[in-house]
Amino acid sequence: MKVYPSMLSANPCCLGDELRELAEADGIHWDVMDGNFVNSITFGAQIIKAHREITSQIFDVHLIVANPENHIENFAKAGADIITIHAEATAHLHAALNFIKSCGCRAGVALTPSTSPDFIQYIMDVVDVILVMTVNPGRAGQSFLYSQLEKIRDVAEMISDDIEICVDGGINSDTAKACEQMGAASCVAGSYIFGSDNYSAAIRELADK
Ligand code: DX5
Ligand code: ZN
Repeated sequence: MKVYPSMLSANPCCLGDELRELAEADGIHWDVMDGNFVNSITFGAQIIKAHREITSQIFDVHLIVANPENHIENFAKAGADIITIHAEATAHLHAALNFIKSCGCRAGVALTPSTSPDFIQYIMDVVDVILVMTVNPGRAGQSFLYSQLEKIRDVAEMISDDIEICVDGGINSDTAKACEQMGAASCVAGSYIFGSDNYSAAIRELADK
């Protein structure tokens, strides 16, 4: 499995130092929250741009914001490689995904736990990543929702091989394995990696390398 550590669980006093410890990761996941779609407020484009200077790793920007179409261009310019938006956060999902691609990024759609996989049926032509949320978005350290395993399997049956299923929330070595068995190709992990003594070892464990 590909592994994307979530910077939400990194020490906010020294994000750059934390980032340098993640060289073995397949990419870096940034949870951008706006205090509107969810209560918390986290990273802005400026923070991501500053960290773009210190690594060439893939930056996977998860926009947990209302009306994400208003922010896509800023985050693309800040150095995002993948921009993921929530299906529930825009009235114009197809257009917004298309816009992400026109900005030169891979386009992802996130589904919160209550959102049906039917949502993705008519966006296959503009989506590269389906992010199945395995917790409710908003904070790190929540318990994995086992109800979402069935959704991962359903999504896997709907998509072609060039679309990646990623899972986000409550990921540890056991839940990562369960998601992989259902068809997930990558996972996001915050608490599991940053709560460990050795980030590289935790990443390798999730990746099953
Ligand atoms: C939740 C975020 C996740 C979160 C994962 O809103 O999208 O990326 O940081 O954290 P853990 O791995 O601790 O559940
Ligand atoms: Zn996330």
